[in-house]
Amino acid sequence: MKVLVIGGGGREHAIVRKLAESSRVDELLCAPGNGGIAADAKCFPEVKATDLDAVCALVKSEKPDFVVVAPDDPLAMGLVDRLEEMGVRAFGPHARAAEIEASKAFAKDFMRRHNIPTAEYETFGELEPALEYIRRKGAPIVIKADGLALGKGVVVAESVEDAEKAARDMLEGGAFGAAGRRIVVEECLTGPEVTALCFVDGTTVRPMPASRDHKRAYDNDEGPNTGGMGVVLPASGYTKETERWCIEHIFRPTLDGLREEGREFRGVLYGGLMLTPNGPKVIEFNARFGDPECETVLPLLETDIMDVFDACVDGTLGALDIKWKDEASCCVILASGGYPVNYKKGFEITGIGDVSGAEVYHCGTAVSDGKLVTNGGRVLAVVATAPSLPEAIEKSYAEAKKIHFEGVHMRGDIGGRR
Ligand code: AMP
Ligand code: GLY
Repeated sequence: MKVLVIGGGGREHAIVRKLAESSRVDELLCAPGNGGIAADAKCFPEVKATDLDAVCALVKSEKPDFVVVAPDDPLAMGLVDRLEEMGVRAFGPHARAAEIEASKAFAKDFMRRHNIPTAEYETFGELEPALEYIRRKGAPIVIKADGLALGKGVVVAESVEDAEKAARDMLEGGAFGAAGRRIVVEECLTGPEVTALCFVDGTTVRPMPASRDHKRAYDNDEGPNTGGMGVVLPASGYTKETERWCIEHIFRPTLDGLREEGREFRGVLYGGLMLTPNGPKVIEFNARFGDPECETVLPLLETDIMDVFDACVDGTLGALDIKWKDEASCCVILASGGYPVNYKKGFEITGIGDVSGAEVYHCGTAVSDGKLVTNGGRVLAVVATAPSLPEAIEKSYAEAKKIHFEGVHMRGDIGGRR
């Protein structure tokens, strides 16, 4: 089979590497891909994931048998819908289903309609009622831009003043552009966070091992929110019993509700959960694999990933037994100094060849004058698996330290390591 993966980060690299293990896949393409993915798949750097016409033109000329749409934007824009209209099999939800991620207001109203546990909230398009609500509820309180904002459109405000400023910036200051024209103001929840990814085929839920992302840029969860600086698996506190509870009270009702509303969801449903003193609650749903959760989870998948993708598309997940290695996994992100605020690109990367005990996935790299260089905020994901989490953490750090580029930044405390 010839398979095309859409996207160009560490998540897509992990998907490409997993597809390369499939006995059914003999040709791999990736658009746009990146400098590192190019070693594992034929890349098309000029085809941007959000340029749906360009992607469809590529599909016409390359004729892949299957397309995996990994990032949020093309899913929300309806790439899977377009590919299906062309008669091409594609993994990922339709635009109407992907709205569970693309609109926080839709997601919150949906959860309220279907009794899915989440933080209390109200939605606002006008400033005055938002300010009135914030003053009435008090701090801490959470302000979120409605649309996709690369995981950065959320302000957890410790004071009423900060909350008012965030609401003002989004609704009147144009922060986050169109994504912030409506905002959700919600109750601040407390407790450990968990990423619960599930393969779903419209009706059946098959959970992947749950993991824990580290979203803040610096150690001790300080600094700005990022796309994710590292992940550990398993996620402490998320027992088998919690998983069963979440499937019954969160994932199954979500799938059923979406189907009833004509938004049948096939692909990966990402539950960003908080394990509060009152039980697990949904912080957000995403319509895709997380990044870098994907890099952390997929190395443990034993079943042929192509069989899993097929079952999701065909609605036959119920008949598939998905097998996972019973191991721990740790991902450490090597980022450009200054990420996520200000950073430079183009520094040469050395030492990847010395890494032996971990996978190195490329998040933001390019090849320039025959050299591998940095080309993004998050540059590389170093992932080690081991029988226990402390071993996986030690191994991933030992391997990550072999890699160098100017200004390299990684958190030193992924998984609580000091
Ligand atoms: P999101 O983009 O919705 O995942 O939010 C980014 C981060 O903000 C989450 O990972 C949480 O750490 C935090 N957050 C979002 N919503 C809440 C909430 N209701 N209470 C506390 N923290 C929150
Ligand atoms: N790592 C968080 C996300 O992919 O949304």
